[in-house]
Amino acid sequence: MAVARTVRRQQAVAPSRTPRDSDAFEQSLRPRALREYVGQQDLKAHLLVYMEAARKRTEPLGHTLLHGPPGLGKTTLAHIIGREMGANVRITSGPAIEKPGDLASLLTNLEQGDVLFIDEIHRLRPAIEEVLYSAMEDYALDLVIGKGPTARSMRLDLHPFTLVGATTKAGVVSAPLRDRFTHVFKLEFYTTGEMEQIVRRTASILSVQFQDDAAARIAGCCRATPRVANRLVRAVRDFAQVENETLISLARAESTLNLLGIDAVGLDKTDRLLLSSIIEKFGGGPVGLSTLAAVIAEEQDTVEDVYEPYLLQNGYLQRTQKGRVATRRTYELLNLPFPQQAQTEIF
Ligand SMILES: Nc1ncnc2c1ncn2[C@@H]1O[C@H](COP(=O)(O)OP(=O)(O)OP(=O)(O)O)[C@@H](O)[C@H]1O
Ligand SMILES: [Mg+2]
Repeated sequence: MAVARTVRRQQAVAPSRTPRDSDAFEQSLRPRALREYVGQQDLKAHLLVYMEAARKRTEPLGHTLLHGPPGLGKTTLAHIIGREMGANVRITSGPAIEKPGDLASLLTNLEQGDVLFIDEIHRLRPAIEEVLYSAMEDYALDLVIGKGPTARSMRLDLHPFTLVGATTKAGVVSAPLRDRFTHVFKLEFYTTGEMEQIVRRTASILSVQFQDDAAARIAGCCRATPRVANRLVRAVRDFAQVENETLISLARAESTLNLLGIDAVGLDKTDRLLLSSIIEKFGGGPVGLSTLAAVIAEEQDTVEDVYEPYLLQNGYLQRTQKGRVATRRTYELLNLPFPQQAQTEIF
């Protein structure tokens, strides 16, 4: 079954999901084993133990939920789990499963130990979630056949399998579904050192060489996100190639970042538009998500999933009950004076 993807507007930097033509590029850069997977140390340490224990018991790994902002490595990890467990990985996504029958056919086709990867699992319909509960708990499928008084229920046994769910919105996954996962892992933004490793790894796969300071500069502008690192390395390579430059210099890295509209802290035009709108149009906030999204002409989901996590993490934005608020750092970033009034109201 095809993986349905939310096609969002392609951004130069932000790790939004892109149309499928970028998939081949991403796949070629995907680490294939856990030891190649940079960072996420705690997650990897736990996962290694759980996988080893499951293998010793000759059981599939417990159902695993991966959550975190886009581009941090959830899909990559799902494939790694399959490979390390010696299992096939079947891929689908929440919105692609339209009827309980779609899920039933996926589940009945799973072999012993297979991994079923459901991307965007928060978008599963309630009726489909219900079917998933017994499949996850008892490896069984409860189906209702027929309608009205003649309807009868039937139970089908399934091969034991591992469900790996991925979501950018952990808060939207229903409690009963979330409770049925044995392992829940949150993916964190990467440190600058880890981003540098990822930049170098991507560069070597793409057969480009960076000078040390150039790699460090790119790593610092990736929004702590591997997908962004991949895009930036590719962009720098292309600009260098046109100029017949074989070793990427700091000057080349910086000129590419400038051309892409990425500033010294790695924020792009939309990030800065979002922040400056809060200050210039809404007096520093609070402003509601829907208003803010409309003002910068983006979808609410994109603002919430793609832009905000990194801005929040870095203190450029605050979420309050009344809406989004600019912080002292936001004013400093945009070289605007921080109003006295805001100091007393917000802090
Ligand atoms: N830990 C990592 N080490 C090295 N490269 C990584 C790592 N995590 C992700 N990547 C790179 O980033 C790319 C994007 O990762 P991936 O597709 O797994 O993100 P995702 O979390 O599934 O994003 P989305 O929420 O948009 O589906 C991968 O193709 C891979 O090249
Ligand atoms: Mg993914």
